[in-house]
Amino acid sequence: MRTHVRHVLVCTGPRCDVDGVPAHAMFRRLGEMIDARPDIKVKRTRAQCFMVCKEAPIMVVYPEGVWYHRVDEKALERIVTEHLEGGREVSELVFHRLLEGDVCPAENTEGCDQDDLV
Ligand code: FES
Repeated sequence: MRTHVRHVLVCTGPRCDVDGVPAHAMFRRLGEMIDARPDIKVKRTRAQCFMVCKEAPIMVVYPEGVWYHRVDEKALERIVTEHLEGGREVSELVFHRLLEGDVCPAENTEGCDQDDLV
């Protein structure tokens, strides 16, 4: 296994991915992006279910513990470039953070559990 500094988990579970699309496609595309940028040193792993099952595709980046939702091609490009390569999370795509809980922007509360907001 190659040395890595971040681990990205992508849910490809049955409630996030209808007929193997789009979470599986996003997982494959993430692999292509990682391979094209050997300096970012990221490991990716499929997960079966994070028990949130909404606003998919969903991915989590560790060690930061940042949870992204609605990860389409454009969002994935930003996450890879800004977070995995640049070290700055893409705040407007984050719906949950380790040790903080749910964090939804006021204009985008769909998919957020309002009871968990801090
Ligand atoms: S199937 Fe993806 S979070 Fe549940």
